[in-house]
Amino acid sequence: MHEQSLHQVPRLVVLISGGGSNLQALIDAISMGSIDATIELVISNKVDALGLARAHKAGIENRVINHLEFGSREAFDKELTHAIDDKQPDLVVLAGFMRIFTPQFTHHYHGRMLNIHPSLLPQFKGINTHERAIEAEVAEHGASVHFVSSELDGGPMVLQASVSVLSLDSPKVLAARVLVQEHLIYPIAIKWFCEGRLKLQNNAVLMDGQLLPEQGIQFQS
Ligand code: GRF
Repeated sequence: MHEQSLHQVPRLVVLISGGGSNLQALIDAISMGSIDATIELVISNKVDALGLARAHKAGIENRVINHLEFGSREAFDKELTHAIDDKQPDLVVLAGFMRIFTPQFTHHYHGRMLNIHPSLLPQFKGINTHERAIEAEVAEHGASVHFVSSELDGGPMVLQASVSVLSLDSPKVLAARVLVQEHLIYPIAIKWFCEGRLKLQNNAVLMDGQLLPEQGIQFQS
């Protein structure tokens, strides 16, 4: 597969479904100059996503592609692909995007789509991760940034941050503690990609040409 060369100023498209706090962390990192990139478009599949207001406030083009208006997953993904490719992004950032993609979609963006998942993958793939972590009485929980593959929440790992699970934690309290870590590690991983340091070669994650361990880099804040 030929190496994708990045634009002079890397172009991002961000997909959201909800509050957009990870989008906001990225907007803030770019506006304070710690990431040299532009967010060309924010797309939500939900009409009521508060993240759309965050994009609007930041003067970023944003639109809704409502999955309820499509007869199939393929039709939705096709429309989404057109909207994304129209902006010619170097990287697609999934930021709280709650949709399962077709394999065609994930293949099309292989090596240039990142996701953040609120667990220490491969633990707790899927939803309600904080509740499940408390129920499982794990000592550690956290967040994972990974390249997106056709396997749900299973792509090659880039960066993880862990937090202790405290005995009095409720899912809400634990989620808030994890979210703080998400807002730290996602901009870092995106910055590395935009600087050409982080790459996916076939299914191996390379950082400055060095193969990363299976679990990615463990971030200590
Ligand atoms: C976050 O925990 C994220 O990891 C998950 O959705 C939650 C909300 O994200 N995917 P955001 O505030 O919409 O960025």
